[in-house]
Amino acid sequence: MKLIFKTKAILVVAFFNSLLLISSLVHAAPGDAVAGKEKAQMCFSCHGENGISIGPSIPNLAAQPALSLSYQLIQFRGEQRKGGGMEGIAQALSDQDIRNIAAYYAALPPPPGKPGNPDLIAIGQKLAGTLYCNSCHGAQLQGQKHIARLAGQWQEYVVTQLKNIRSGARIDMDGTMGSAAKGLSDEDVESLATYAASLN
Ligand code: HEC
Ligand code: HEC
Repeated sequence: MKLIFKTKAILVVAFFNSLLLISSLVHAAPGDAVAGKEKAQMCFSCHGENGISIGPSIPNLAAQPALSLSYQLIQFRGEQRKGGGMEGIAQALSDQDIRNIAAYYAALPPPPGKPGNPDLIAIGQKLAGTLYCNSCHGAQLQGQKHIARLAGQWQEYVVTQLKNIRSGARIDMDGTMGSAAKGLSDEDVESLATYAASLN
């Protein structure tokens, strides 16, 4: 009981810390995409200079909303989110670097949609509406504010993240995405990810 309370208290503190960080990012000077490209050299070997990654377990960053990129990098730097060695890589980044890199990747043309099983795409499209994914992630899952772009993302990456969020292995900032993922079956996850990947 005590332990549960403590864990909750830590999560609440972590949540308010993230809010403070987000608001400092929102109210700070806008990112400089030119400086961001310079700093992002160290990211290109995995995420690509054009923001299209080298393989399906590494996310595309092109056209992701700047605030979403910034928030994820802060999560990695604080080790609230871990994976792919990103928690180590993000240690090297200052708040200004993060804003600049986010401005750079956000301004790139979006990744092209990928062909997929048409039946899964149709089911995924339907689920994205009935489960309100598109009310947060955008009508075409293009992302907005602190909410990631899913359109044109690698199917495999989206599947992994949805399963991690569903199991709690990946903690989300305010619990909204956690509850959205909770009731999904593996089939739902496959269809939603195939639909997302197919969008331009
Ligand atoms: C060695 C390969 C590698 C390098 C170098 C790398 N990343 Fe990553 N990045 C990954 C992987 C793998 C993931 C997925 C992590 C996971 O599974 O959660 C990731 C995830 C991310 C995400 C989360 C995206 C999302 O949609 O949630 C962001 C943002 C990101 N990286 C930015 C960067 C930036 C900025 C740099 C350079 C400073 C960088 N990465 C360097 C491999 C790399
Ligand atoms: C209430 C708003 C909301 C709804 C509804 C919602 N999401 Fe999210 N989603 C978010 C937020 C916020 C994040 C970022 C979570 C974080 O890392 O803190 C996110 C993150 C994600 C990610 C990780 C993306 C990445 O690049 O790492 C995936 C995948 C995702 N959502 C898919 C979905 C799907 C599929 C649905 C519908 C079943 C859905 N979301 C419904 C708000 C929402």
